[in-house]
Amino acid sequence: MEDIITVRELQEKFDKQENVFILDVRPEDQRKEWQIANSVHVDAYKLLNDGDDTALDIVDLPHDCMIVTVCAAGRTSLLASKLLQRKGVQAYSLDGGMKAWNYAWNIARLTVEGVKVIQVRRAAKGVLSYVVGSKNEAIVIDAALDPNVYQAIAEDNGWKIKFVTDTHVHADYVSRTRDLGRAAGAKHLMIDKAKLEFNYVGVANGEVIKFGDVELEVVHTPGHTWESTTFKLGDSVIFTGDTVFTDGIGRPDLKAGAAEGIEKAKVLYKSLKHLLSLNGDMLVLPAHTSNSIAFDGKLIGEPIKTVKSRISLIELSEPEFVDYTASRLPPTPPNYLTIAAINRAGTYDGQVLADLEAGGNHCAIA
Ligand SMILES: [Fe+2]
Repeated sequence: MEDIITVRELQEKFDKQENVFILDVRPEDQRKEWQIANSVHVDAYKLLNDGDDTALDIVDLPHDCMIVTVCAAGRTSLLASKLLQRKGVQAYSLDGGMKAWNYAWNIARLTVEGVKVIQVRRAAKGVLSYVVGSKNEAIVIDAALDPNVYQAIAEDNGWKIKFVTDTHVHADYVSRTRDLGRAAGAKHLMIDKAKLEFNYVGVANGEVIKFGDVELEVVHTPGHTWESTTFKLGDSVIFTGDTVFTDGIGRPDLKAGAAEGIEKAKVLYKSLKHLLSLNGDMLVLPAHTSNSIAFDGKLIGEPIKTVKSRISLIELSEPEFVDYTASRLPPTPPNYLTIAAINRAGTYDGQVLADLEAGGNHCAIA
């Protein structure tokens, strides 16, 4: 019996809606950080590593589907799958563990005003990027996976990728936007406020990006970062980056000291007030979700009115909002500073991205 299953093989099984039972054997704290959607957890890490043959006896395993064990990097999960195999269970270990599953992805689709929007989701980390296409042209917003992924999507839809852009300098994953722009021969657009160490085509607040039948308006919404940008598609959709999520708001302190964090909180308040005052039926499509994403094809997005009802912070006055935000900021994860520096430089030569990007995202404060 084969011992392992690769990320690609498991992703294909999920894509085909095959029934797979995922058994997560990591310690509880690692499980909390990030996980595979719909997986089952048993904190058997120590027992497995101690060679205890009863380590998984408390798990009620189904008899009608494949069992896949998972851990951080694929070593302890292999002990688990071998143990199950010895007991006659068809079990496989996810090769490379969560560190490898970080690059598993799926999509959800939306058509609005004749424009196709494809939400590309990194399933473990909850990172969302978008391919927006009309006629034979497309833009990619916040590319977070290998350029081939976006190029294949564009090709399937008969689109040439005309533009690539990021909503802001990301701190929780290495942007693939520059690579994609080069690979696709697309123009790399960024709001002209962005302080980057490579050349890009600057677009100003209020400017309109045109491709196919699309007019995408650039709206500067600073706060999460100084350059944070929202892209507005007609009266239907706002691509909000990490400024506002479907159930929360972006944290303003990333990469910043305390004083700068307070200044950012003030402008974030204004940006949120502006965005949440737009037509309540417009759909918020963010750059993250706080949960691991299932392979269910369900778009992650909510109308502005729903998002507004979930964010009570927006009812505070500006000073109250700033005070509250300042008191709630969790520490910036150390790898965020490294990742943001890479994204400003536009190159990650010599960096092992799988190590750097491991772990859940920490972009929200509420
Ligand atoms: Fe961010």
